Amino acid sequence: MAKDPVRVLVTGAAGQIGYALVPMIARGVMLGPDQPVILHMLDIPPAAESLNGVKMELVDAAFPLLKGVVATTDVVEACTGVNIAVMVGGFPRKEGMERKDVMTKNVSIYKSQASALEKHAAANCKVLVVANPANTNALILKEFAPSIPEKNISCLTRLDHNRALGQISERLNIQVSDVKNVIIWGNHSSTQYPDVNHATVGEKPVRELIADDAWLNGEFITTVQQRGAAIIKARKLSSALSAASAACDHIRDWVLGTPQGTWVSMGVYSDGSYNVPAGLIYSFPVTCANGEWTIVQGLPIDEFSRKKLDLTAEELSEEKALAYSCLN
Ligand code: NAD
Ligand code: LMR
Repeated sequence: MAKDPVRVLVTGAAGQIGYALVPMIARGVMLGPDQPVILHMLDIPPAAESLNGVKMELVDAAFPLLKGVVATTDVVEACTGVNIAVMVGGFPRKEGMERKDVMTKNVSIYKSQASALEKHAAANCKVLVVANPANTNALILKEFAPSIPEKNISCLTRLDHNRALGQISERLNIQVSDVKNVIIWGNHSSTQYPDVNHATVGEKPVRELIADDAWLNGEFITTVQQRGAAIIKARKLSSALSAASAACDHIRDWVLGTPQGTWVSMGVYSDGSYNVPAGLIYSFPVTCANGEWTIVQGLPIDEFSRKKLDLTAEELSEEKALAYSCLN
């Protein structure tokens, strides 16, 4: 029997990530090849004409799984009945801007969209925040939508996770699909800690295969931390196809589950695991089953890693304070 369609909201759908993401969703990349979808696309009035153009292209692409398209600048219409909300809307960082520069612009959007989601989305709607500062926008959304369970609000660090997998596979000259269990800890920013201490290729630890601590503790980390900025420098625009693909990976694994023995990185509400302060949206290693994520527990954290986990937590605490000062 055919499945009922799932309603997926994409905010900022007329933007560059939106343009890469909506065809992926309509093709089944996010929810699977047998899952019909209805796309809800939100943007702001100056982008209304462009948003309508995206809707026209979706019709023209004749995607068999796409059962309807709502393209609107009305946040209530956009949020009504959605099962999954991918929050991309906001202002991207431009060359020369620090992430903190985009804070003022974006946190107020997340405060107001929190209440629309809380009032109008389907019960148990899963929320993924992509727009930067992603962790802090997600935290603001959580705090201003108190009736949405905290387990349902997340932010995207899967792009960083995938970047780490990519760097290891390039270094070893192997398939990226053979590398697993890297971890991104903390903020989707240059303080994030890409950790390979538990990563493997087949049965072998990555640290055994790449016996070059200077690279693993140095250039590898900074390359992943700075990759967003490197893309902006090269494209004069921030990453889009890789961000859209990572958003699909994030939701797919959350809804359909992570493969046995594999974890992924998700920005989720900290419960104090690994002595990360509770009450931050922080990227942890998680496994997913039955539509729920669980933080992987008990991984040994050495002194080098501990400092890096704490540093990115400190930045998130500062961002939280700054976000509140922007809102006041
Ligand atoms: P973009 O400027 O191309 O698109 C953003 C869209 O959001 C625009 O169409 C804009 O009109 C719309 N928008 C602005 N305010 C809105 C609002 N209140 N409601 C709905 N829509 C609104 O930007 P982009 O390149 O698509 O990037 C989007 C966001 O994603 C940026 O904040 C960027 O920094 C972030 N990003 C995050 C990651 C990640 O891994 N977490 C990766 C890449 C980019
Ligand atoms: C990215 O990681 O590509 C984006 O978040 C861009 C940025 O602002 O760093």
